[in-house]
Amino acid sequence: MDLTNDVPSDSMTSRDYYADSYAHFGIHEEMLKDNVRTGSYRSAIERNGHLFKGKTVLDVGCGTGILSMFAAKAGASLVVGVDMSNIIDQAQKIIEANGFKNTITLVKGKLEEVELPIKQFDIIISEWMGYFLLYESMLDTVLDARDRYLKPGGLIFPDNAKLYVAAIEDQDYKDEKINFWDNVYGFDYSCIKDIALREPLVDTVELKSVVTDPCLIKHINLLTVKKEDLTFTAPFTLTATRDDYIHAFLAWFDISFDCTHKKVQFSTGPHAQYTHWKQTVFYTPSTVTISEGQKLIGNLSCAPNARNNRDLDISVSFKLATEQEATKVEYKMCVVLPYRYHNCGFC
Ligand SMILES: C[S@@+](CC[C@H](N)C(=O)[O-])C[C@H]1O[C@@H](n2cnc3c(N)ncnc32)[C@H](O)[C@@H]1O
Repeated sequence: MDLTNDVPSDSMTSRDYYADSYAHFGIHEEMLKDNVRTGSYRSAIERNGHLFKGKTVLDVGCGTGILSMFAAKAGASLVVGVDMSNIIDQAQKIIEANGFKNTITLVKGKLEEVELPIKQFDIIISEWMGYFLLYESMLDTVLDARDRYLKPGGLIFPDNAKLYVAAIEDQDYKDEKINFWDNVYGFDYSCIKDIALREPLVDTVELKSVVTDPCLIKHINLLTVKKEDLTFTAPFTLTATRDDYIHAFLAWFDISFDCTHKKVQFSTGPHAQYTHWKQTVFYTPSTVTISEGQKLIGNLSCAPNARNNRDLDISVSFKLATEQEATKVEYKMCVVLPYRYHNCGFC
């Protein structure tokens, strides 16, 4: 990200916000109002106050300071919040307005580059998850923080993430989003159809559209995962739960705070309450007809894009268990609009 930290927060223009989208309050409003997200962090910290009493806490990507304040309220002796966005100027005011000036220290800059007031922390807290869990690659930053600053035996909130796929029937929306390009006011726009198909769609999907069992494709244990593990190929087997058609794969993730005595977890799946992460849809080039009990097998590969490691190159190859030839589709996860403003109603 091209930082505009030299521009005072109250003089930023749309060009500055494009470079530093996290500086705008709107993006934080959306995250704070996501009660599943923010409420889960609050519960995990509040209900396990004994883990925070007298402890040092590093908040990686503190934004408006909400997680830092939960930790301070739970009794942490010192919380250091780091953020590279200008939003940290507001966080400083918020922390002072709420009486946490003596407990919370904020540091402006990239976690990878800043000098912290202490070098070892008992606990790391961070909300790093992107669309499809890994979009935006902020997990790399948390792993960097873990390896440099977490005390041996220290805790990470949250400490487990699981990514799932299933298949969905989605004819109407596929017509609207993909097949639309076949005929635009009588003109052939089908060159865009191929591009649209390769861009995963972030949207909410109704549970009734899901036509297979889900399959876990990646489990990330934050205490042990390495950066290299985030480039992976995972096999999947999806068993149809009814006779139907498949138009797309659907991905979502679950997050849990397992290091706590009183466990907290939340899901971003189609069976769970809405979150701003919604789900991620990968349309298939053609429709697959599937019968109850039949298996669809395949592999999903995921890697940071070589030119922009915040983007993801995702490929899915799949076939019915009874077929010889697999179909392979290469997707590019590249959210052009500022992160989390996508489909936000501002655009
Ligand atoms: C998803 S937001 C979470 C904000 C806040 N913790 C919350 O829960 O509301 C992630 C924040 O991390 C910051 N961030 C991302 N990468 C960073 C890095 N490498 N160093 C410092 N801050 C970073 C962004 O500017 C953004 O404010």
